[in-house]
Amino acid sequence: MTVILRTIAEVRAWRRALPAGQTLGFVPTMGALHAGHISLMELAKRRASVTIASIFVNPLQFGPNEDLAKYPRPIEKDLALLEAAGIDAVFLPGVANLYPDGASTFVVEESVSAPMCGAVRPGHFRGVTTVVLKLFNIVQPDLAVFGQKDAQQCAVIERMVRDLAVPVEIVRGAIVREPDGLALSSRNVYLSPEDRAAAPLIHASLQAAKAAFEAGQRDASALAAIGRKVLGQDPRFTLQYWDVRDPQTLTSIDTVPTGGALLAVAAYLGSTRLIDNIVLAPF
Ligand code: PAF
Repeated sequence: MTVILRTIAEVRAWRRALPAGQTLGFVPTMGALHAGHISLMELAKRRASVTIASIFVNPLQFGPNEDLAKYPRPIEKDLALLEAAGIDAVFLPGVANLYPDGASTFVVEESVSAPMCGAVRPGHFRGVTTVVLKLFNIVQPDLAVFGQKDAQQCAVIERMVRDLAVPVEIVRGAIVREPDGLALSSRNVYLSPEDRAAAPLIHASLQAAKAAFEAGQRDASALAAIGRKVLGQDPRFTLQYWDVRDPQTLTSIDTVPTGGALLAVAAYLGSTRLIDNIVLAPF
């Protein structure tokens, strides 16, 4: 049975009652769980002896014109999926549990969070780091699993954990894709049938650049030009960025170094914002 915990006090009591010597693995989510999330749960289960997930649609990481109100919240289905995945507990806080009236303390990472999604979604990563550190303080996990689909989020959290000496190991889980290449995302449900049919072009644009890299192209602007050209084939896409960056610091690079690089895209398809990425392996 997955134990449902609704308050900070309930999580703390559950945590205290765990037998000594157990390792606790944590998967924070905003719900609307799909096979990508389940793969993170499975990774947590392989890496830790006890597992806890959280489901909290965090208002602090949504901009004023973003999809907070319409974000899907299929809670019964989510709980059934966690149960089936064998997760030991789930934390389901309400907004008032996590943000008491007058809450005025925030966590801001200023470098890794600046470009890419940080540049087009002001305040987004401040919301993420604030809620993630707070969840870490409540759950006190040994390790926490985040999806590589949000590569920048992973890098920002890794930086925060390093800078603030947070005693949690960050584990990245691989992107899970539909058979046609579209990365799984809770936001894919927003896509119209026509947009859904076009969506795999994002992954195709990354693959095209990766193929050029594997054929020897090391020039970052040439790789980005290849990716942008593929995405440009369908006027339905409004590109936000198609970037080649250092995978840890997210600074832009001119030439792919031997340590590899991150290819990352964000684009609107209709009113749905999609992101995806591929890591170019060290060579
Ligand atoms: O990746 C997400 O679902 C969210 O950004 C997270 C990490 C749960 C914080 O709200």
